[in-house]
Amino acid sequence: LGGETILIADDEYSVREMIGTYLRDAGYRTVMAHDGADALAAITLRPPDLLLADVNMPVMNGLQLAMELRSTGRTAAIPIMMLSALGQPREVLSGYSAGADEYVTKPVELEVLLAKIDSLLSRRPARPDAAPSGRLIAFLHAKGGVGTTTLAVNVGAALAGSLGPARVCLLDLNPPFCGAAAYLGLTPAISLTEALAADGQLGGETLDGVLLAHGTGIRLAVGRRQEGEPPAPDPAAIRVVLERLRERFDYVLADAEIGLPAEVADVVRAADLVCVVTSAARASVDATRELLHRLDAIPLAVERQVVVIDRLAAGLELGQVIQMLQREPAAIVTHSDLLAVAADNGEPLVATYRGHGVAVELEQLAVSLKHTLEMQAGIASRS
Ligand SMILES: Nc1ncnc2c1ncn2[C@@H]1O[C@H](COP(=O)(O)OP(=O)(O)OP(=O)(O)O)[C@@H](O)[C@H]1O
Ligand SMILES: [Mg+2]
Repeated sequence: LGGETILIADDEYSVREMIGTYLRDAGYRTVMAHDGADALAAITLRPPDLLLADVNMPVMNGLQLAMELRSTGRTAAIPIMMLSALGQPREVLSGYSAGADEYVTKPVELEVLLAKIDSLLSRRPARPDAAPSGRLIAFLHAKGGVGTTTLAVNVGAALAGSLGPARVCLLDLNPPFCGAAAYLGLTPAISLTEALAADGQLGGETLDGVLLAHGTGIRLAVGRRQEGEPPAPDPAAIRVVLERLRERFDYVLADAEIGLPAEVADVVRAADLVCVVTSAARASVDATRELLHRLDAIPLAVERQVVVIDRLAAGLELGQVIQMLQREPAAIVTHSDLLAVAADNGEPLVATYRGHGVAVELEQLAVSLKHTLEMQAGIASRS
């Protein structure tokens, strides 16, 4: 036994504890979840080697959970064992059709359960994602021009530089000409969409051709490059892109298109952390409130959502913004004309004006995001 991790999702504490204790005694590591949504959040953060899921759970049941996992590339191959008091053929069949590999009826015979787990894990192909996986932060905005790309570029530079060194990739998923390349003074010769058309698996050399290097150490990849290119990449392509980038980088910062279209929702599901950027203008705050509701509905656990207020222009009082959003911002960035100067020079502010006003705030944001990710990783690996 290699100390594989088993996630146990059951709304009954006594069941979780009984099975958990038995599996830990057998040498497995365990992570607990008390409903399907809780399990999904933990799995997205760190996929376990096997999922043991109760069928009847509040918020999101085991069947919904299995379907959700099977439909997402990063989690599609996780062995799923379903546990249920419902043992009628119809119920067992719906378990299998939701994606279960095994369906076990309660009350469980622990020794048999363990044998089934051992067997499922030993027949599993070598993990394709055995390579260490970088953290994905998605930068979202509900309204245009609120500073999203500016923050993503500066957080990237801070992670790669003063807080690093770390391998950082900025992934620009906006339609063409939306900032990231310009703010870094780079001109992409080929986009991910073009590269994927030539090599659907985005092999090493293909990816090398797409990645542009900036002096701060950041690498940049753009989703699309020119008007008239095919529309946004489909979910399967986005999955390939995210997987390849996470293999190579410690941090992947996705600068997402405005709002929450389907492609952005796919990125959100795969993200370890979602950073929602808003200005203090009423229209932006209203739109951001709506976006946060929609993130909740995905469902995206609130612990994986971070709000940042970029006060780039006059707007509402801070207290009013916080009250409208019902969230404490992780960072507040004040207005600075230096940002425009830095952007025009193709240099992130944190790299060129270290220690100056807004550069300090931007670095603080990077520190805060990094800590949130480290805390999450700590929770997910706790047995
Ligand atoms: N705190 C700030 N102070 C002054 N100017 C700022 C601030 N934050 C951003 N800006 C400026 O606001 C403009 C818009 O910023 P940015 O392009 O980062 O926004 P965005 O949300 O990514 O926009 P889009 O919707 O076009 O992607 C830029 O010119 C940027 O330099
Ligand atoms: Mg932008």
